[in-house]
Amino acid sequence: MRTAIISLGSKSTVMLAEAMEKYFTTVDMLDLRNIEVNLSKEMEVLYEGKPIQKYDCIYVKGSHKYEQLLRAITASLYNKTYMPIKPIAFNIAHDKIYTQINIQQNKTPMPTTYLSATIPAAKNILKKVNYPIIMKFPHGTQGKGVMFADSFASASSILDALDTLKQPFLIQEYIETGGVDIRVIVVGDKVVAAMKRRAEIGEKRANIHAGGIGEAYLPDAYTKKIAIESAKSIGAEICAVDMLESVKGPVVIELNISPGLQGITEATKIDVADKIAKYLHEKTKEKKDKKNKTEAKEIMKDINTAEGHDIITQLDFRGDRILLPLVATKISKLNEKHEVCLTAKKDEIRIKKFC
Ligand SMILES: Nc1ncnc2c1ncn2[C@@H]1O[C@H](COP(=O)(O)OP(=O)(O)O)[C@@H](O)[C@H]1O
Ligand SMILES: [Mg+2]
Repeated sequence: MRTAIISLGSKSTVMLAEAMEKYFTTVDMLDLRNIEVNLSKEMEVLYEGKPIQKYDCIYVKGSHKYEQLLRAITASLYNKTYMPIKPIAFNIAHDKIYTQINIQQNKTPMPTTYLSATIPAAKNILKKVNYPIIMKFPHGTQGKGVMFADSFASASSILDALDTLKQPFLIQEYIETGGVDIRVIVVGDKVVAAMKRRAEIGEKRANIHAGGIGEAYLPDAYTKKIAIESAKSIGAEICAVDMLESVKGPVVIELNISPGLQGITEATKIDVADKIAKYLHEKTKEKKDKKNKTEAKEIMKDINTAEGHDIITQLDFRGDRILLPLVATKISKLNEKHEVCLTAKKDEIRIKKFC
């Protein structure tokens, strides 16, 4: 089976591609920056100016900057090949405001979060809230867009700075955790790895890029359930879920559909890339088998088995051996009890019942 990863080619993507090579016959790394999507009656995805090849599985990753392109690629290919992330997930996960709205609608526990369209409206919010608070840019990552304010005075001055930058933002209840957050990696219906990240002394953000230290963590069943449900609610089969342990239990603050793998692999000693690769392979096979069965059924419906039928397809291999399509087996009505005469020459194989 053939797979491609469309991404910016980070170290984590290389780790994943290497793991996928154990399961797939071909793993192509395609640079997101060389992809175009043509929107017309049919949507077409081009790589380096040519129509993208046929793949059984395509895993698309990238940063917020490429949100529209990521969505367009996925929208175009989603029904033709197995893709673990639904098109809409690229918009939700790349925007913390949409993420929190989605989490709220899904009835998942989250910190109280306030939105407003104007600075005067935001100042009114700042007059009502309990301090400290967190303010965030919707598109921030690695802790870079997270601001901490311990009083109205500091929050109000941050707000004025945000106004001059013309940046959208959200205001959020501060969850006291002593600078610890929980990162859980969801793959399909399972949590495959989890870590606690502890912020550097004097720092509120636990991100590893902000100096946080990760250590292996075993989440309880409830925490796992919340993480799995959150990922599912945005249509992401592979997702990192960031949570904070509040006095009332875990709350979700971020969904990351392009998570780094190095930090969590080092902290947990779990081969997360392998877990993802194995899952992608299983799902691809499942989807392919289902597609083959449906196609076989469709062909069988209007086929005259005596006349023969051309089947235009790509070949499936098990190791070095050719595995014939199900439809060929069905039409020929050959089974393991039959003796056959097999004629093979370059570019051709014929199989005939021997009688
Ligand atoms: N509401 C909050 N209360 C306390 N700490 C928070 C809150 N929101 C974020 N943080 C801290 O900031 C870090 C980064 O926030 P997050 O929303 O995950 O954005 P990023 O995309 O930058 O990782 C979190 O891992 C956590 O340590
Ligand atoms: Mg985060």
